[in-house]
Amino acid sequence: MKKLVVLSLIILAGCYYDNEEELYPNQNTGCDTSNVTFAGTVLPVIDANCKTCHSGGFPQGNVRLEDYASISAAGKIPAGQYGSLYGVISHASGNSPMPKSGNKLPDCTIKQIKAWIDAGTPNN
Ligand code: HEC
Repeated sequence: MKKLVVLSLIILAGCYYDNEEELYPNQNTGCDTSNVTFAGTVLPVIDANCKTCHSGGFPQGNVRLEDYASISAAGKIPAGQYGSLYGVISHASGNSPMPKSGNKLPDCTIKQIKAWIDAGTPNN
């Protein structure tokens, strides 16, 4: 029984790794911006890279990014204006570069989030 538990944990870890590969495809595999969704693409990126600082009662910079409503609102703010989701991840002038004190998101991830914004930030 114990062996089975360990084995399934290893399998689960393997699946999780596969998901990360899908979220951050490298340049060799190309960048697919045609199947971008809020739940499948945008939210996992925000949860993994932004949520720790931008959720709860006192989000940093007074910017909440924790659900569709708040992330969609930030997505609709043009680059260069305070609170712009695209402005901060693309390091546009006028915006504070995010993730703060972290690496810039992969180019493909930025393109995918832009595709979601350009599509009108659908709740899909
Ligand atoms: C380590 C904490 C931390 C992380 C991680 C982080 N932020 Fe921030 N964020 C801040 C702080 C602090 C501010 C206030 C402005 C400043 O200090 O630069 C801020 C400000 C902002 C602003 C408003 C500033 C502007 O120029 O528009 C936005 C939008 C934002 N963050 C989005 C994000 C996004 C999107 C991510 C993830 C990709 C992210 N943040 C990750 C701490 C963080």
